[in-house]
Amino acid sequence: MDIITVHNLKKYFGEGFCQVKALDGINLSIEKGKFTAIVGASGSGKTTLMNTIGGLYEPTEGEVFVDGINLAELSEKQLTIFRRRKVGYVFQDYNLVPELTIQENILFPLMLDDSRPDKMFFSEITKLLGLSDKLNRFPHMLSGGGQQCTAIARALITKPSIILADEPTGSFDAKTSQNVAGLLKIITETFHQTLIMITHNLELAQLADRVIKLQDGRIVE
Ligand SMILES: Nc1ncnc2c1ncn2[C@@H]1O[C@H](COP(=O)(O)OP(=O)(O)OP(=O)(O)O)[C@@H](O)[C@H]1O
Ligand SMILES: [Mg+2]
Repeated sequence: MDIITVHNLKKYFGEGFCQVKALDGINLSIEKGKFTAIVGASGSGKTTLMNTIGGLYEPTEGEVFVDGINLAELSEKQLTIFRRRKVGYVFQDYNLVPELTIQENILFPLMLDDSRPDKMFFSEITKLLGLSDKLNRFPHMLSGGGQQCTAIARALITKPSIILADEPTGSFDAKTSQNVAGLLKIITETFHQTLIMITHNLELAQLADRVIKLQDGRIVE
């Protein structure tokens, strides 16, 4: 079963002479529970594709269906709930809240939704991600890798059906990258989640069930 379907998706930024065709006619189906890697040169449209699938960007043209729902038909409020409950994001630049502790950052999506944390699950993922002894620290006190692990734990905590990870291992060395990407793969398999990961690292892409290559806003492989 497909969890994501994208029809003739176009996303343009700017107008006229300076217009950038970040996505230029993407057709794509992603099967539920699978791990898809997105690769491609810088500027090829990877982040734009991920943000459009995740309901952060509105398409210029074309449609995105997630679990049979056309995102264009959701109201602003419904879209906010969709983003909060269905999708876990790991952003390229972490996006942690500097004034909150590591624990508070991880639990933040649940707080927004007035839901209670599953304490067992919280301790399980923080342990797996090596954060158990850092929960009371603030983001700036952690390395780039530690901050990225916090962002990963925050994406997982709501047990969303889709995890969108934009270069989740960008700040790690080769070995840690393999470990963290492997962990993401195992966790998402355990919870039957669909994982989409952007990476520049072709070795990491090999962990995926499928690799999609973007070039100039189009799928080339
Ligand atoms: N908010 C924006 N406003 C204007 N142009 C944008 C915006 N976001 C992306 N672009 C442009 O769209 C194109 C695709 O950008 P995108 O960020 O999706 O690429 P990417 O493949 O994720 O690159 P990278 O590997 O460097 O992260 C680029 O030319 C970029 O400059
Ligand atoms: Mg990007």
